[in-house]
Amino acid sequence: MVQEINRAVAVLKQNGLVAIPTETVYGLAANALSAKAVLKIFEAKNRPHFDPLIIHVASFKDVFKYVNEVHSILEKLMKLFWPGPLTVLLPRKSIIPDITCSGLERAAFRVPNHPLTLELLQHLDFPLAAPSANPFGYVSPTKASHVHQQLGQKIDFILDGGSCKVGIESTIVGEENGKIIIYRLGGLSQEEIETATGEKCFLKIANHSNPQTSGQLDKHYATRKPLKIVDAFSSDSLAITFGKNAEKENPLMVLNLSKSGNLSEAALNLFSMMRQADQNADFDTIETKLVPDINLGRAINDRLKRAAVQS
Ligand code: TXA
Ligand code: MG
Repeated sequence: MVQEINRAVAVLKQNGLVAIPTETVYGLAANALSAKAVLKIFEAKNRPHFDPLIIHVASFKDVFKYVNEVHSILEKLMKLFWPGPLTVLLPRKSIIPDITCSGLERAAFRVPNHPLTLELLQHLDFPLAAPSANPFGYVSPTKASHVHQQLGQKIDFILDGGSCKVGIESTIVGEENGKIIIYRLGGLSQEEIETATGEKCFLKIANHSNPQTSGQLDKHYATRKPLKIVDAFSSDSLAITFGKNAEKENPLMVLNLSKSGNLSEAALNLFSMMRQADQNADFDTIETKLVPDINLGRAINDRLKRAAVQS
C-alpha cells in the first residue's frame, strides 16, 4: 500500500484528483486550499458551484489551522466521534478559498475513519476537499469499482480501500444559539449524538422550498430508473426490501437490505443495492418501502425519499 499512498500524494500535490476511501462513501479528493484543484472536482462531478464541499483533515487539532473558533458543544462532539461519520460546520479562516465552501462563512470539516485515507492525510501539508465520488445527483459509491465505472476516465487515481464500512454519508451538524443543529442525517444517528452529549438536537433538514445544500435538494441520491415507495410490492417487481417478512408479498426479484432487520447492515447495503437494481436490465422500475424511522433508519429513509422524487 505504500506505493499507492505515494502515488496519491504525488497526484494531489500536482493539483490532481484522487478518489479516496472513507468509512461512509468514497470521496473525490483534491487540495482544499487550491482553487484550481477544487475546480476540477466540480467539473468531474458536473456539480453546481453553489454546493460546498466537505474538508477532510487528519486529526482534531488540524482543524484549528483553518477555523477561527470552535463552539464547546461542537468540540465535545468532535472529540467523541472523530474519526467517524460526523461533519461539523465551523467559521472558516480566509486560507480556505471561496470555491471550496461556496463563499459561505462556515466550512464543513471531518476526520474520516479509514486507515489509508488517514495515512494519506498525514503525508500532506494541506487538507482534502472531497464530495462523494459520483456524478452529481446519482447514488454515492461504496466500492472502488463504483467510482471506476462512473468517473474512472475523469480522475487521476483511485485509492482502493475496499468496501465502505458505514455505507451512508456523514451526519452534518453545526451550532446555532448554543444548540446542536443537524443539517443532514447520516452515518451517526441523532440518538447517538443525544445520548453521548445529553443535549437535544434540532433538525434543519432543508426541503425543496429551502435547499441549503445539495444533499438536501429533493431529487438526490437517485437511480436512473424510477424508484417508487409502495405500500405493497407488485408481483412482477424488483424490490429493495428490509427484514424477514419482506418476501411474503412475493416480488419477482428481491434485494434485501438486511434479512435480520439490522439498520446498520441496511445502511451498508443501501447504495450498492440501489446500483444493482438500477443496472438490472430486466426491470424498468424499482419498488421499495421505508424502513423503521429510528437510528440509522432515518438517514436511510431520507435517501430513499429523495431518490423517489419524480424529476
Ligand atoms: O460522508 C461524507 O460526508 C462523504 C465523504 C466522502 O466524506 N462526503 C459527502 O460529500 O457526502 P457531498 O459533497 O456529497 O455532500 C456534502 C454535503 C453537501 O450537501 C453540501 O452541500 C454540504 O455537505 N456542505 C458542505 N459544506 C457545507 C457548508 N459550508 N455549509 C453547509 N453545507 C455544507
Ligand atoms: Mg454527494
